[in-house]
Amino acid sequence: MDPKLESLLRQMPKAELHLHIEGSLEPEMIFRLAERNHVKLAYDSVEALRRAYAFTDLQSFLDIYYAGASVLLKAEDFFDLAFAYFQKAAADNVVHAEIFFDPQTHTARGVPIAAVIEGLEHACRRAHAEWGLSAKLILCFLRHLREDEAMATLEEALPHRKHFIGVGLDSSERGHPPEKFARVFARCREAGLHVVAHAGEEGPPEYIRNALDLLKAERIDHGVRCVEDPALVLRLARERVPLTVCPLSNVKLRVFPSLAAHNLPALLAAGLCVTINSDDPAYFGGYVVQNYLETFGALPQLTAEHALTLARNSFEASFVPAAEKARWGAELEAVRARVMEH
Ligand code: ADE
Ligand code: ZN
Repeated sequence: MDPKLESLLRQMPKAELHLHIEGSLEPEMIFRLAERNHVKLAYDSVEALRRAYAFTDLQSFLDIYYAGASVLLKAEDFFDLAFAYFQKAAADNVVHAEIFFDPQTHTARGVPIAAVIEGLEHACRRAHAEWGLSAKLILCFLRHLREDEAMATLEEALPHRKHFIGVGLDSSERGHPPEKFARVFARCREAGLHVVAHAGEEGPPEYIRNALDLLKAERIDHGVRCVEDPALVLRLARERVPLTVCPLSNVKLRVFPSLAAHNLPALLAAGLCVTINSDDPAYFGGYVVQNYLETFGALPQLTAEHALTLARNSFEASFVPAAEKARWGAELEAVRARVMEH
């Protein structure tokens, strides 16, 4: 790769908007926390666990991802997890992160939701103090569970309302369409929360439409299957609905056979507000800069201009005040000038 392009991808300030904090749980930390918390694992070693990371689709990944999360029990575990992620994100020049967490994965095991949110929130504060990284939390509902369970989770979380900015919808997509969660999302919007939803990763374009129309999603997570519906692509472009795309995830979960076959160039060419994100970096082979490097490496038609567009889109798509977006936009321009004009 052109060294200037590589420097730009590494150094440009960026926002990460699609990151499941439980998906940043590295095998080494799984073993460390298992020992600390006296949790028995089904694998004998880090290497044996890593060997199990051979996924065939979303569900085959989720089974292992939920098993990995079983070592998270105390607020300090959630702190350690998120702080380790922020350290890597800061090294990737992530200046702002809106991170997902899955409370139901933990409350189902008897972990108090307060421990989850307090540990994560403490790490957000520390990340800001250490690296100036602004970090916000988005609570995700597990779509394979019932809507009344999501509603009960929301009620449990609302006393901690000031510590999260929005809600999302994740887990097994097929067979669990957005409309299943229309009432709980309406309640979230009444509470002033931002709303996003995974749609069009494995599910059809109709799920993207319904996430927009029935959940009023402000961003679509993944959304790559929108290209199967040209009218939907036009709408996404016209309304500037952001898509938080995760290239390495899409290849590991076989949404695309390879990065070279990814439709990111088509999404950019259609004028969509696309962003690059890491989804579950501990499982999919890399954090956000690795996603940029491998994607640009595999798709030589992508240029420095595309890189800058993706970074600009990440700020545009974020839930921060316009003044903050303008400040990061100016930092981006300064990095562009320093890297590209020397
Ligand atoms: N939970 C964690 N990663 C996910 C993904 N890629 N899709 C749906 N749910 C998820
Ligand atoms: Zn995701």
